[in-house]
Amino acid sequence: MKNKLLFTLLIGVFFIPNAFFGQTSIKLTKNEDAPQISKHIYGHFAEHLGRAIYDGLYVGEDSKIPNTDGVRNDLIKALKDIQIPNLRWPGGCFADTYHWMDGIGPKEDRPSIVNAWWGGVTEDNSFGTHDFLNLCEELGAEPYLAANVGSGTVKEFTDWIQYVNHAEGSPMAELRKENGKEEPWNVKYWGVGNEMWGCGGNMTAEFYANLYRQYATFMTSWENDNNLYRIASGANQDDYHWTEVLMRDIPKHLIEGVALHSYSYVEWQNKGSATDFNEEQYFSTMKTALFMQELIDKHTDIMDKYDPKKEIDLIVDEWGGWYEVEEGTNPGFLYQQNTMRDAMIAGVTLNIFNNESDRVKMGNLAQTVNVLQAVALTEGEKMLLTPTYHVLKMYTVHHDAQLLPVVFDSPEYTHNGETLPAVSVSASQKDENVNISIVNIDSEKENTVEIDLAELEVNNMTATILTSENLQDHNTFDNPEKIKVSGFDDFKLRRGNLKLTLPPFSVVVLEEK
Ligand code: AHR
Repeated sequence: MKNKLLFTLLIGVFFIPNAFFGQTSIKLTKNEDAPQISKHIYGHFAEHLGRAIYDGLYVGEDSKIPNTDGVRNDLIKALKDIQIPNLRWPGGCFADTYHWMDGIGPKEDRPSIVNAWWGGVTEDNSFGTHDFLNLCEELGAEPYLAANVGSGTVKEFTDWIQYVNHAEGSPMAELRKENGKEEPWNVKYWGVGNEMWGCGGNMTAEFYANLYRQYATFMTSWENDNNLYRIASGANQDDYHWTEVLMRDIPKHLIEGVALHSYSYVEWQNKGSATDFNEEQYFSTMKTALFMQELIDKHTDIMDKYDPKKEIDLIVDEWGGWYEVEEGTNPGFLYQQNTMRDAMIAGVTLNIFNNESDRVKMGNLAQTVNVLQAVALTEGEKMLLTPTYHVLKMYTVHHDAQLLPVVFDSPEYTHNGETLPAVSVSASQKDENVNISIVNIDSEKENTVEIDLAELEVNNMTATILTSENLQDHNTFDNPEKIKVSGFDDFKLRRGNLKLTLPPFSVVVLEEK
């Protein structure tokens, strides 16, 4: 009888799921057919909005702040350090008001316009096409030009392509040369308008699909074997009808990518402070961030219906957290601080993109500097790097690596009877080395995970962590290193089994050495 009881207990213990011990089992598998995680998932976006360009990236050639052709050197270095793969410009909503010819030629001769979308300020066009494309060359980033469809013309658009891509013997190539640039830049990525359902012209999907066909027909690149990559302005979040119509009505030979925009917030009408938020507001923000998974699943289902071979990519060219502006700043400038909450948004969103990298080929965090979920903030000569920046730096291990699919059931993060998955994971392999990024969004509970790496023969790993005492913590100009990446050795790796405990609201990246 005693033996029988012991036997039953042993069997019971053996079969009790790991979750019972507060532990999550994660299985990593090697699948030769798994996609490559495009480095372009880690792209950025800089609009003529607030202090993103002027007083952010561009301080002017005569500034006391050390700069290269007017762009601050500290920011150039910071962006190179996160291996910025691409930069989208000049908008955003600004793109469909932008006439590129205003931004070429001698700066003193350039016309001024009013930036109608963002604060009604004067735009003197001192940062234009040459400034942007030369900056991309300096950064080693691919430019992604968002062209004006809403208030432009087909001719204006195609002239821009000719200006930046045609070598010689055309009116626009000669104009470029006159303006001091002999060789073309060969820009590959082109957005055909922005948010055409809203600030781009309040169009219906059906109307835009037709307009897109017209524009795309005349887009020619003479230099690249005509390999322009044309991106259709995409849906606002869960507007699935928009994607359905574009996929149905645009012939495949005219399109390479369909965009999607989705921001994270507490409530769209009541966004709350970037730094002074409560648990309720944090939970709501994370809910909208994790909604990205459902959005990608559902937009992908529609794309699969029309494009089962996955020839057209999903491009999430605006994402990030959106709160009220900092007190005392221009409401049209969208200047906000960046806390551990933003690090959580970045960590889970990038894990989703990695895991969906068979369809998602590009992402653009909104925006690079001084606007929305920025990676850097500036104040005069000072610049600080945000928690979001550090996540992007930690995740560089995934750039162009092969995805390692993960299988697991996340523990729950519960608040007021509602639940979200607490743990988010993605993994990849590059040069034989395995890299794993794990996020625990739970605001209070640590979570222990056990990762089965047996199939991958991993023997040695190093790790880094991003965490802080409070979710609301952020870097300031007086204390720019309050939140920074630290080494993390609180994990055990034995015979292909990796075990670690993630502190509340933390991001851990493990790299095989
Ligand atoms: O990123 C700020 C704005 O958000 C962009 O200009 C627009 O495309 C979106 O609505």
